[in-house]
Amino acid sequence: MNILLLGSGGREHALAWKLAQSKQCDQLFIAPGNAGTALCGKNVAIKATDFDAVKKFVLEQTIGLVVVGPEEPLVKGIVDFFRKDEALKEVVIIGPSQYGAQLEGSKAFAKKFMEKYNIPTAAYKEFDKNTYAEGIAYLQQHPLPIVLKADGLAAGKGVLICQSNLEAVAEFELMLQQNKFGDAGNKVVVEAFLDGIELSVFILTDGKEYVVLPEAKDYKRIGEKDSGLNTGGMGAVSPVPFADEVFMKKVEDRVIRPTVEGLNAENIDYKGFVFIGLIKVGEEPMVIEYNCRMGDPETEVVMPRLKTDLVDLLLATDSGKLGTIKVEQDSRSACTVMAVSGGYPGNYEKGFVISGLDQELPADSLIFHAGTGLSASDEVVTSGGRVLCVTSFGNNIPAAVSKSRSVLNNIDFEGMYYRRDIGYEFE
Ligand code: AMP
Ligand code: GLY
Repeated sequence: MNILLLGSGGREHALAWKLAQSKQCDQLFIAPGNAGTALCGKNVAIKATDFDAVKKFVLEQTIGLVVVGPEEPLVKGIVDFFRKDEALKEVVIIGPSQYGAQLEGSKAFAKKFMEKYNIPTAAYKEFDKNTYAEGIAYLQQHPLPIVLKADGLAAGKGVLICQSNLEAVAEFELMLQQNKFGDAGNKVVVEAFLDGIELSVFILTDGKEYVVLPEAKDYKRIGEKDSGLNTGGMGAVSPVPFADEVFMKKVEDRVIRPTVEGLNAENIDYKGFVFIGLIKVGEEPMVIEYNCRMGDPETEVVMPRLKTDLVDLLLATDSGKLGTIKVEQDSRSACTVMAVSGGYPGNYEKGFVISGLDQELPADSLIFHAGTGLSASDEVVTSGGRVLCVTSFGNNIPAAVSKSRSVLNNIDFEGMYYRRDIGYEFE
């Protein structure tokens, strides 16, 4: 069948790489893609949120399966758009309905859902303009630190961890009275701070059954030893050493199963990935957030470790047959290390030529492009903050990381930076 993948980051290159290996994949198209996805299929210049252009392309190319990489088209209702359209309703599309995508698109919705289905998460309260005064009083007596979250999508910037009550009150005011995050901040969730170590767990679900994919840990800070500003993600490892069998059983019993039971009980149309952001507090898993898509850069380690055919998994998700599929995982460790533009996550320049992409790669290393494009003379150039990542396998995390570092050592572009310490706690 012909497949269309929406998105353009490192996650999409890893998904494209995996989809292209399926025996069921005839032609793979990526919209809009990057210079790396062009090596797995054909890029098409369509924005993932331009639903009418997507529709036209799907019909022209007789696409049978649409895979949505990023959250924005899902939160904007692309799945409902397909389901309601006479010409598109038979096309398989992977992702939740707009209602289900609120698990990511509205923090208040996600917190209510967790509360209703007894899923462990930080204690919270939500406020809006009408309850502003109560919110201030609540913040003034709240133990520190205080976590403030803009309800809606805020490009990864909507979570603030405040170290004083005064700071929390000031930020709360900025969100609700000064529109700091635009409409995303019309509601604010205030929650207790959880102290522990984070990991990302992924499932594919049809809203009734589910399969668990390899878990991963990402490294969000720009600086080594997790210092400096937050980024989209500087690297990831999988499996996660502290996510042992006992811990993962707790995750399944207390988080995954109740989440899917909740989707079912609420009759939510959800056929897609759920990314569960967890924090291990003591020995207990607590949910920090849900996302309605795969993680980036987690996908760049999850897809390489997944041995099962991805198209088989996605079609089983659509047809309610997930219960018949067993997920096979590579038992080796995988890591990915992200190379970013100089200045990222602040301002950076684009358009620098990338060298070293044609090097002979070790058998257990892969390069995934994120922010790359082609120049007028067909050279691969930088086009974003996160530029590319190198994923490698090893018998343990340090071995995998050291392979990725040696590949990166041969890659260069002006201002290139990467963290040399991904996986440092597992040495
Ligand atoms: P989110 O945008 O929901 O992914 O949150 C961004 C980051 O904020 C998370 O990855 C955590 O590191 C941190 N965070 C969010 N909620 C909490 C919490 N309740 N306690 C501690 N850290 C949190
Ligand atoms: N790596 C975190 C995310 O994709 O949101």
